[in-house]
Amino acid sequence: MGVGPSEFTWVSDLVRRESAIVLPPGKEYLVEARLLPLARAAGLAGVDAYIRAAQRPTSLAERRAIVEALTTNETSWFRDATVFASFRRDMLPRLLADRMAHRPLRIWSAAASTGQEAYSLAMLLIEELGPARRFEIIGTDIARGVLERARQGRYTQMEVNRGLPARYLVQYFQRAGTGWQVSPELQRNIQFRELNLAAPFPPGLPAFDVVFLRNVLIYFDTPTKQTTLRRVRQVMAPGGWLVLGTAETARGIDDGFELVRMGDMSAYRPVSGSAFGSASRPPTGQASGRPSVPSARSPSVPSARPSSTPPSGPSLQLSGRI
Ligand SMILES: C[S@@+](CC[C@H](N)C(=O)[O-])C[C@H]1O[C@@H](n2cnc3c(N)ncnc32)[C@H](O)[C@@H]1O
Repeated sequence: MGVGPSEFTWVSDLVRRESAIVLPPGKEYLVEARLLPLARAAGLAGVDAYIRAAQRPTSLAERRAIVEALTTNETSWFRDATVFASFRRDMLPRLLADRMAHRPLRIWSAAASTGQEAYSLAMLLIEELGPARRFEIIGTDIARGVLERARQGRYTQMEVNRGLPARYLVQYFQRAGTGWQVSPELQRNIQFRELNLAAPFPPGLPAFDVVFLRNVLIYFDTPTKQTTLRRVRQVMAPGGWLVLGTAETARGIDDGFELVRMGDMSAYRPVSGSAFGSASRPPTGQASGRPSVPSARSPSVPSARPSSTPPSGPSLQLSGRI
């Protein structure tokens, strides 16, 4: 049946405006494949009918569903194993040597999808840090469906088969029906929140020691990559590190980062003077318990970025005010 040209243009404009994901001509097949289940669930004849229904002023839920359906949520445990090996062997000792022991290490999994990256980091950190050093992981994504799954921490056998070492499965998971449930020990150190990387970040983000921003910039155009990297820099703790996907780079996009080879991986750090928000103040956060990412209901927690950031473009308010 296919997607009509004007319907495709409308969808690609919507998705770009709300999430910055670029859907160039030629991606009609993707729109068709991703929206067909939505059309069927709504009892409509086809994708074009669903798109036209979503254009009604009151169809906010349908527009949100379209944007979410066009995110690509591919992920796996310890994805790109050499990155996790280098994180453990090369980056972590450096971080721990630099950081004050009395405050938790803060890590942001900035396009967390269903949570495998954040939980992989948690398993590794529990093993490496022991009980004496605390850590907090924040996982964020624009898509509510994947975030809900990440929060639940329940995975199918097939998902578990993708990169999770058997010893971690034994140690941190319990059987749950035909799938697996992550342990409260892992969940305790992680919070999952909605956040749109392509909109101004919500106030009150803490300063992060490491930001995993992997396999999401590839979906953005260059100006959006630039803005996102600049915003990320502003919420990095002094001496913090940025880790991108293996197919991604900040070089030639944001001069505020310098590339550092670290073991088998490359990481970025803000060149001095370029991290505007966080460099000159102590990090925020609670002394213990759950990660200290504040919510929109706790605006009094100091922000890692200046408050003068301009308002966001998206109209669906997918900006995920944390
Ligand atoms: C391919 S997954 C990457 C998951 C994980 N970081 C990894 O490397 O395995 C990309 C994720 O980015 C999210 N995403 C896309 N656009 C986004 C945006 N504007 N803001 C926040 N997350 C976004 C998608 O919903 C998706 O879950």
